[in-house]
Amino acid sequence: MKNDYKIAIFGAGYVGLTTASCLAKFGYNITCVDIDKNRISFLQKGKLPLFEPGLFDLLAKYKKRINFTINDKKAIRENDIIFITVDTPFSAKNGLNLVSVKNVAEKIALNINDYKIIVNKSTVPVGTAELIKGIIKKRYKDKFDVVSNPEFLREGMAVSDFLHPDRIVIGSDSRKASQIVAYLYRKIKAPLVLVDAKSSEMIKYVANAFLATKISFINEIANLCEYVGADIDKVREGIKYDPRISGQFLNPGIGYGGSCFPKDTHALAVTAGDHGYNFHLLRSVIEVNNKQRQRVIKKAENLLGSLKGKNITVLGLSFKGGSDDVRESVAIRIIKDLKKKGAKIKAFDPKAISNAQKILSGIMYTTNTYEALKNSDLLIIVTEWDEFKNLDFKRVKKIMKKPNIIDGRNLLNQSKMIRLGFNYYGIGRK
Ligand code: UGA
Repeated sequence: MKNDYKIAIFGAGYVGLTTASCLAKFGYNITCVDIDKNRISFLQKGKLPLFEPGLFDLLAKYKKRINFTINDKKAIRENDIIFITVDTPFSAKNGLNLVSVKNVAEKIALNINDYKIIVNKSTVPVGTAELIKGIIKKRYKDKFDVVSNPEFLREGMAVSDFLHPDRIVIGSDSRKASQIVAYLYRKIKAPLVLVDAKSSEMIKYVANAFLATKISFINEIANLCEYVGADIDKVREGIKYDPRISGQFLNPGIGYGGSCFPKDTHALAVTAGDHGYNFHLLRSVIEVNNKQRQRVIKKAENLLGSLKGKNITVLGLSFKGGSDDVRESVAIRIIKDLKKKGAKIKAFDPKAISNAQKILSGIMYTTNTYEALKNSDLLIIVTEWDEFKNLDFKRVKKIMKKPNIIDGRNLLNQSKMIRLGFNYYGIGRK
């Protein structure tokens, strides 16, 4: 085993940049490649093209070990291990798009010059390691290995999740390649799961599908609590001490969003269908998730009657607190639904406004929360930012036209809100 493996990382997004900076921290020299020239020149200037806590500092600290480039040929030729961390976008119309993964595989096929290990970290359907192998084999007849090494990073926690994972999963048909990849992570204390490539690819989807199932389950229980007059906070309290259940990932809300769960649940259901298996449970998880946001609209109508011409304040635009990412954000969908009903929207988010502006127009973006709340008929909280929890609600009540709150994340203290005179509705709260 050498201890000076040279590493190239294709794809300078959340996963690629986190992997690059953490492996640089472990002492490796990294070449980080992206096809987006602007992104690379941004990174070369020491700037970070996305918001991820801790990542900027880590990149700055180890900048001497990380080289940013668009020169893929050189990166392939001069490195021993090539990570693929590109996007795998999903659209309802066209399904999962593996073009970026295939493009990197083609580039490797064209430029590979000796034994390399190709490590795929992008989330991909079962069989993609074989697909990558097939693309390279068409042009290159000598030995190389493909390894699946899924990431389990959460946005907003990416650096800490990389450095302190629950487990490291490495899947390959080559024992030697798996051991070399495991060696890169030797400074991390975590169980090592060494499996075949297909099982490894499956593990990633199963983990996300299971977590999504927990969310849809608790959302349905919260909805039921509203019908029977129980309180979801208390119900959760009463189940979470059973370690087989645990309280984690059981926060009811407006439905899961982001670049992972919606895409991965769908992709797994499609994979099942492709193999002639109807994955009923997962299809229900997806359906429940799509319906959950409609309950927020219904609650708004129950409070205000017709939404036409009503001033509605939406706090939050990103798909979850602590992130500037608006991809598949339920917040954005809720705003679009409210707009369709004729509501006038003012919105604020501490980090995600500029990303939201690229995909959502026709609403007023404000520079702070209080401005968004002036003269409002209804406040809807859709993203769990701490600063929304800590607002001066006496002031909020004074500046709103009507004291209505729908708390889509159960972020606020219900009794306090009622004491202050708000008409407060959470999710599954009594
Ligand atoms: C998720 C997984 O948590 C990571 O383990 C995985 O690596 C990542 O996807 C991925 O595949 O790359 P992420 O999408 O960053 O990470 O965000 P989460 O924190 O998991 O939240 C996903 C969505 O579920 C958000 O919209 C969040 O608000 C929602 N959620 C989460 C709930 O509604 N309730 C909960 O209890 C937890």
